[in-house]
Amino acid sequence: MRTEPIIRLTEYSHGAGCGCKIAPAVLTRILAGVPQAAPDPRLLVGNGARDDAAVYLLDDERVVISTTDFFMPIVDDPFDFGAIASVNAISDVYAMGGTPILAIAILGWPVDRLGPEVAGEVLRGASDACRRAGIPLAGGHSIDAPEPIFGLAVTGTAHRGEVRTNTQARAGCELYLTKPLGVGILTTAQKRGILRDEDFATARAQMLALNDVGRALAGVASVATMTDVTGFGLLGHLIELCEGSGVRAEVRFDDVPRLAALPFYLEQKTIPGGTRRNWDSYGHKVAPLTDGQRTLLCDPQTSGGLLVAVDPSGRGDFLRVTRAHGLDVAPFGVLHPAGDGPVVTVR
Ligand code: CO
Ligand code: CO
Repeated sequence: MRTEPIIRLTEYSHGAGCGCKIAPAVLTRILAGVPQAAPDPRLLVGNGARDDAAVYLLDDERVVISTTDFFMPIVDDPFDFGAIASVNAISDVYAMGGTPILAIAILGWPVDRLGPEVAGEVLRGASDACRRAGIPLAGGHSIDAPEPIFGLAVTGTAHRGEVRTNTQARAGCELYLTKPLGVGILTTAQKRGILRDEDFATARAQMLALNDVGRALAGVASVATMTDVTGFGLLGHLIELCEGSGVRAEVRFDDVPRLAALPFYLEQKTIPGGTRRNWDSYGHKVAPLTDGQRTLLCDPQTSGGLLVAVDPSGRGDFLRVTRAHGLDVAPFGVLHPAGDGPVVTVR
C-alpha cells in the first residue's frame, strides 16, 4: 500500500509570508537609485508615496488601483497558502478604498522538488479567494524557482473622491485595527512545530478573512484613511501613515487588539526574525518601548487587518459599517499634529 508523503510547504522556504518583506531601511536604499518617473498628473499615487497601491486617474470620476504582493509559504497546506497569499494581495486594493475587479497570478515553483499537483492546489486556493472577493483569476505567469513563491497582481477601481491614501490622516483621528496582532508569532510557532491545533485554526481563519470592509469604509466620510498591517508590523505601517500625513501617533498599548493565545508562545520565546529587523529599521522613530511592547507592535503580520484613522465626530457611522461586517473594534490610539519628538509614542 502506498501512502501519500506529507508535504510541509514551509520547509521549502527560508522566510514566511509577509515576514519575507525586505526591511523598510533596505527598501529605501534600493529605491534611492531609481529615477522618479516623469511626473504624470494622472498618477495620483505612485512610487514617491509609501502607499498600499498605485492609483491612476482614468477620467474625471474614476481611478484604477494597481498592486502586487507575493511571498513564500506561510502555512504547510498548499490550498491555504494560495488563498492566504491572494487575500493578502487583494487587501491592498481594499486599503485604498477600492473595489477589486480582477487578479493575475504570480507563481515561482521548484518543479524538480515539488510536484505540479501541489502548485495546482495553490492555484485552487487562489481561485477560491478570488471567488470570495467576487473577482476572476484572469491569468498569470509562472517560473521555475528554488523556493515556492506565490501571490497576485490585483487591479481595482474606485471613485476618485473615495480613494484613501496615507496622506489623509488628521490630528484628532482615533486609530482602529480590524484584526488582532500576533499572527507572526503563531506562524513562527508552527514552523517550530509547537503551534496548538486551536491556535492554528484561529491564525488560519484570520489570514483567510478578506479586508472587504475597506470597500464599505470608503463611503464613510469620517474614515480619514486606511492601510493594511502586513510585514512591517503595526508600528511600521503606522509610521508610514503618520509621516505621509504629517501627524504623530499616541498608542495605548493595553488597548491594542491581540490574539489571546500569545502569552503561551511568548513564554517560549517564539519571536519571528522579522520583528527585530522591523525595529532596527524604524525604532529610532518610536519613543522607547519595553521588550513586550516591541514584540507585539513590530510583529510582522501576514494578511493583517486594516489600520483605520477615524474622525471621532463620525465614529457612529464607522462603527455601524464595521459591525455590519461582523467586526468588534475599539480605538487603541489617537493622532496629534507632528512635533519634533518621536513619530509614535506608546503608553
Ligand atoms: Co498594504
Ligand atoms: Co502590499
